[in-house]
Amino acid sequence: MRIIPIASGKGGVGKSLIAANLSIALGQAGKKVYLADMDLGGSNLHLILGLPSPQDGIGTFLSAQDIPFEKIILQTDYANLNFIPGDAEIPGIANLPAGQKNKIIRRLLSLEGDYLILDLGAGTNYNILDFFLTSNRGIIITTPTPTATVNAYLFLKNIAFRLINTSVKRTAPGAALLDRLKKDGSALQRVYIPKLLEHLKKEDPESYTVYLKRASHFHPRLIMNMLENPPDANKSGKLRRSCQQYLDVDMEHLGIIYRDDIQDTALRSRLPIILYKPQSVLAQAIYRIADKIIQSEGEDDQSEVLIADLDESYQNAEAEATVDFAAKLDYIEDLLQTGALSMGDIVETVKTQQMEINQLKRENQFLKSKLVKYMTK
Ligand SMILES: Nc1ncnc2c1ncn2[C@@H]1O[C@H](COP(=O)(O)OP(=O)(O)OP(=O)(O)O)[C@@H](O)[C@H]1O
Ligand SMILES: [Mg+2]
Repeated sequence: MRIIPIASGKGGVGKSLIAANLSIALGQAGKKVYLADMDLGGSNLHLILGLPSPQDGIGTFLSAQDIPFEKIILQTDYANLNFIPGDAEIPGIANLPAGQKNKIIRRLLSLEGDYLILDLGAGTNYNILDFFLTSNRGIIITTPTPTATVNAYLFLKNIAFRLINTSVKRTAPGAALLDRLKKDGSALQRVYIPKLLEHLKKEDPESYTVYLKRASHFHPRLIMNMLENPPDANKSGKLRRSCQQYLDVDMEHLGIIYRDDIQDTALRSRLPIILYKPQSVLAQAIYRIADKIIQSEGEDDQSEVLIADLDESYQNAEAEATVDFAAKLDYIEDLLQTGALSMGDIVETVKTQQMEINQLKRENQFLKSKLVKYMTK
């Protein structure tokens, strides 16, 4: 079974939307899928799937002794899709103790299917990092905004640090080096991973070798969601380069998805977008991602990944951004032709966009002035 954890630094970037629709797409392709709502404390995946509030979920399984794990798995009406609800109601559930976390990971890993998709909460607590690290090819989602990409980067920095940490045994010489950093929270924020690795190599070559072996297989996959226009796709390359340079992590690009207002209508009608409007640019982008995942089935978690293939994945994503943009414009053209969209609607949209542009300009000015202040300090 392939495990696909879905994470992001920032919240609200589309993890649950993509987890739900991707799972349905994989199920439609004949794959047996388990989808688990691991956003413990903030579970809402059932809403996106259009299911009623579940009675039991991971939270009740962990807190009540007498519920067998199998009982919390729901068979859905979607082809080949089983759903494992989370829990919003149990206080403190977002901070699982290690024993509980390992219990749930063990149960999940013992399931038999083709895919296990984990919809994770936003942020960087240890549980989220460890759920993400149950696979070498987890998905990280961001949007093109600076806050979202910076948060994606910081998430991966925490992941890189966790990878190093779990490669060093408590009794190994490198443990003291890491302890010094962990004691001082702010030092951890500032830690420069390439330098840390250099120290580790010198002080504890054995642990360093363990890390290298793990890191060589670790290639998360990026989805850039809520694009507005083709140049937004360039943000992915920038994020990749920062991760290569500062974190020793190289990612694959799994694809871009444009923002599509049709998602709001789908949500209101309580239907996942790929059922509500399978032909929409948004649904098609999700099918494309599902296809890429199915195509990579030949590889396993330990397969070698070629840099040339990673490079190509970024070129493909840029091409997708251009093609999908054209498709979106064609769609607007059609709406105009059929009268579904009036000139008045378009004028309204242009006005709103103009306001958004002005708002962005102001934010940009503000950030620039901060930067200048910082640099002249
Ligand atoms: N490509 C898109 N086009 C339009 N709306 C989108 C798109 N992607 C996500 N959304 C909307 O953005 C909102 C946030 O999405 P979602 O809940 O999936 O994010 P999330 O990352 O799971 O959030 P959280 O961190 O709170 O769990 C939802 O209302 C969703 O419908
Ligand atoms: Mg979510």
